[in-house]
Amino acid sequence: MEHHKNQPSTVILVTGARGQIGTELVAALRKVYGRKQVIATDLHDAAAIPDQQRPYHQLNVLDKDDLESLVVTYGVTQIYHLAATLSAKGEEAPLKAWHLNMQSLLNILEVAKDHKLDKVFWPSSIAVFGPSTARKISPQDALLDPQTVYGISKEAGEQWCAYYREHYGLDVRSLRYPGLISYSAPAGGGTTDYAVAIFHEALQNGSYECYLNPDTALPMMYMDDAVRATLELMNAPKEALKERGAYNIGALSFTPAELAIALKMHIPDFTISYNADKRQSIANSWPAGVDDAVARHDWNWQPEYDLTAMTKDMFDHLEPVYKNSNAATMS
Ligand SMILES: NC(=O)c1ccc[n+]([C@@H]2O[C@H](COP(=O)([O-])OP(=O)(O)OC[C@H]3O[C@@H](n4cnc5c(N)ncnc54)[C@H](O)[C@@H]3O)[C@@H](O)[C@H]2O)c1
Repeated sequence: MEHHKNQPSTVILVTGARGQIGTELVAALRKVYGRKQVIATDLHDAAAIPDQQRPYHQLNVLDKDDLESLVVTYGVTQIYHLAATLSAKGEEAPLKAWHLNMQSLLNILEVAKDHKLDKVFWPSSIAVFGPSTARKISPQDALLDPQTVYGISKEAGEQWCAYYREHYGLDVRSLRYPGLISYSAPAGGGTTDYAVAIFHEALQNGSYECYLNPDTALPMMYMDDAVRATLELMNAPKEALKERGAYNIGALSFTPAELAIALKMHIPDFTISYNADKRQSIANSWPAGVDDAVARHDWNWQPEYDLTAMTKDMFDHLEPVYKNSNAATMS
C-alpha cells in the first residue's frame, strides 16, 4: 500500500495495539500513513517495546485523562479502539468484562467528540447474534440476542456508536468481525481461538484436542482479510455508509473437522480429538455464517482467502518458526 502523501495530518492512536488484531493492524496502518503517524498503546510497559515498534505508549483505556492527554499531545485525528475482553474470557468475570468493554468505549467516544476527531473505528463481533438468529446465515438486520456478557457489550456498543453518530455527528465506523485467524500474535480468549491454536499444536505435537465438537460451524476470517476490511471501511466515503449498526463481514465458515482435513493436507499424520468445554455453549448460540451483502454493496467488501489459501499461508509463516525452534532445541 502507498503512503498517503495527501493526508499529512492524519495521526492515528490504536488501543489494545499489542493484541491479536492490533499487532497486524498497526503494521498495516504504518505502511499507509507512515510509522510516526500511528501511536500504538496498550497495557504493556513501554520499556519492553522494541524501537521499530514505536511510537508506543503505555495506556490503560479506562484512564480517560491519560487517553485525552495523548490525543492532545500528538494531535490525534483518528482512534482505532481495540482493547477489550473477549467472549470466553469475559464469562469468567462478567462485570469486569462489561466495565472494560463499555467504559473504555465511552471514554473513546467522549474524547473523540470533545476533540472533534475525524474518525473512530471500533470492532463489534458475531457475538451480538444469539439463538433467535438464523442458524445458517445471519442477516445484517438480525434480531440481536447475545448470550454472553461480551456479546451484550458489543450490542450496547453498536447502539452507543450510533448515538454519537446521530447526536454529535461523530464519524464512528464498525465491523462485526468473525473469528480471526492469524500467525503473528496469539488469540486473546475468544470462542474461536481453537482455529489459531490448532496450527501451533499441529506443528509442535502433530495433534490437537479441540474444545468444540467436530461439527460446530462458525464464521471465520483470515487476518489479512480482516485488516484490509478495516482499512477499506475507514477509507470509504462517509455518504456510502448507510448501516446504523456494525457491518456483517463474511469470508469463511468451517467446522473443526473441516479445518483438521485442511491441516492434514500439510501434515498427513495430524490427529484431532474432541473434548467440548464451556465454550461449546457460546459457539452453539452463534450462526454458522453471516450475510454480508450490505457491506459488499456499501463499500465493495470482498474476501480473498478461502480455507485452502488461509491454511497454506498459516503454514508458510509458522513452519519456519517451528523448524528453527526445533533445531535450536536439538542442538
Ligand atoms: N480476535 C477475534 O477473533 C475478534 C473477533 C471479533 C471481534 N474482535 C474484537 O477486536 C478487538 C481486538 O481483539 P483482539 O483479538 O486483538 O484482542 P486481544 O485480546 O488479542 O487484544 C486486546 C488487547 O487489549 C489490551 N487491553 C486489555 N485491557 C486493556 C486496558 N484496560 N487498557 C488498554 N489495553 C488493554 C490487552 O493487553 C491486549 O493486548 C476487540 O474489541 C475484540 O472484541 C476480535
